[in-house]
Amino acid sequence: MAPRMKEDAWAQVQSAHDALEGISTLSLFEEDVHRASDFACEGAGLYLDFSKNRISREGLSALLNLATASGLTVKRDAMFRGERINITEDRAVLHTALRDRSGRVVPAGNEDACELAGRERARILNFAEAVINGDSLGYTGKPLTTVVNIGIGGSDLGPLMVVEALRSYWIDGRRSFFVSNVDGQHLRDTLSQCDPESTLFIVASKTFTTQETMTNAQSALAWFREQGGDSAAISKHFVALSTNPEAVSDFGIVPDSTFGFWDWVGGRYSLWSAIGLSIALQVGPQRFLELLDGAHAMDVHFAEEPPVTNMPMLLALAGIWNRNFEGMGVHAVLPYDQHLHRLPAYLQQADMESNGKSVTLDGRRAAVGTGPIIFGEPGTNGQHAFYQLLHQGTDPLSSDFIVAARLDSELGDHHAKLLANVLAQPRALMCGQSEDVVRADLAADGLTDDAIDLLAPHKVFDGDRPSNVILMDRLTPQTLGALIALYEHKIFCQGVIWDVNSFDQWGVELGKVLAKEILPTLETGHMEESLDIDPSTRRLLEWILARRSSQ
Ligand code: F6P
Repeated sequence: MAPRMKEDAWAQVQSAHDALEGISTLSLFEEDVHRASDFACEGAGLYLDFSKNRISREGLSALLNLATASGLTVKRDAMFRGERINITEDRAVLHTALRDRSGRVVPAGNEDACELAGRERARILNFAEAVINGDSLGYTGKPLTTVVNIGIGGSDLGPLMVVEALRSYWIDGRRSFFVSNVDGQHLRDTLSQCDPESTLFIVASKTFTTQETMTNAQSALAWFREQGGDSAAISKHFVALSTNPEAVSDFGIVPDSTFGFWDWVGGRYSLWSAIGLSIALQVGPQRFLELLDGAHAMDVHFAEEPPVTNMPMLLALAGIWNRNFEGMGVHAVLPYDQHLHRLPAYLQQADMESNGKSVTLDGRRAAVGTGPIIFGEPGTNGQHAFYQLLHQGTDPLSSDFIVAARLDSELGDHHAKLLANVLAQPRALMCGQSEDVVRADLAADGLTDDAIDLLAPHKVFDGDRPSNVILMDRLTPQTLGALIALYEHKIFCQGVIWDVNSFDQWGVELGKVLAKEILPTLETGHMEESLDIDPSTRRLLEWILARRSSQ
């Protein structure tokens, strides 16, 4: 798209924003009786209300125009078609093909990505079925009822988040652990709860070279051997998920126990691939397929719905408005669902690793702010922790509230209370509370004028703190799949508008290299004079070495 066109579109959004100077979100509702229904959309089992963002109709139409000027639909179609849009790694981006069971053909090189995915999925699900049914047993004949997934980043957060989210669908008698941290306490604490005879280890790593995962996998293997597992036993208790079969084989895992995927599946977009094996083992193959189908329904919505009712696009545009025009660099993800307690952590990687970039696709410094800081916790817990800042902090931020209208099995009035809270918070953030109202309330409570003067400023809420609300009927594998795909596509849309590559992650490399340089010093306990490090790090290292040598 011509840069000039995009600049003009950006300027139009800026003018629409400027025109809102001094206008509150509440007054936008007062002027427009259709706002609540028009600033909302539905698709793939989800309902999005974005009306509490301080965006006017003119602002929305300018944002939609910005999407057009950024070539959003063209780039979306290119992604779905399998074009190599990840230009810095020269790869296609085809996680959507992993969940497309429609029979569509999506070229990946000389092959069909959907067909490849389907074939490998059948292997994964057959394996999961055999483990669950007891056709595949441990080396002493015990069922493999415990799974330890060893992976990190996308090879951990996705399956972990989904397994937790689908707790209501867990198969009785099965349990899953996720070990990610190279901190040995993570593995040791996990192994202390495992019986080697009934534990299946999944070594999940796209590259099969990640330091944390390989260290944990080697230590798990050593533990398994110490517990009596011999080479034949290992083949029953260790499987690998990777795009690097050679490294898997060097590690000692046989091809039959290796489940693959492809370079067109990004790590943080991989839970739909073999990386989802732990999900299938915990909730069963059928539920895993339902998860894929939910995501596919959102893919179809994203691919076919016009921008004006396209949920990922609208969510992305509301985010662009808040990030770039309201100046909000932080975005909170607030699921009112205890089972979604790992969603914020999952979205931290999905969003911040994708859009935390400072250069545009052509290598120039980004002229506007890109990916925001993402954080969050489930409601209502967050309300009693950090919501104070959401309501009255000096740096306003935007939020997403997520909730299901009902649960399969509700406990008393818990869910009604949860729903009351999730509706109250966005309302409080938007409406705020003026000083006049505060003073009147305090006077009605019988406070003196002096007491009112003292207290009133502390009880004022500015309001106009934007939020989206995402509703679903129930949290099921389908709606969860749709929710994750919604966020994947939102991130894609924002990356297109910011003109960054949302599919690489060069920013994680430097730290890895520097850690490798320091490691020998820590292993030997001796610092070579020649070690080329800055004075601060040198001094920290000396302090640590002194403590470690006194052990
Ligand atoms: O270091 C970042 C990263 O490359 C993530 O993008 C990825 O999800 C994670 O490491 C794990 O990588 P792998 O699956 O190759 O072990």
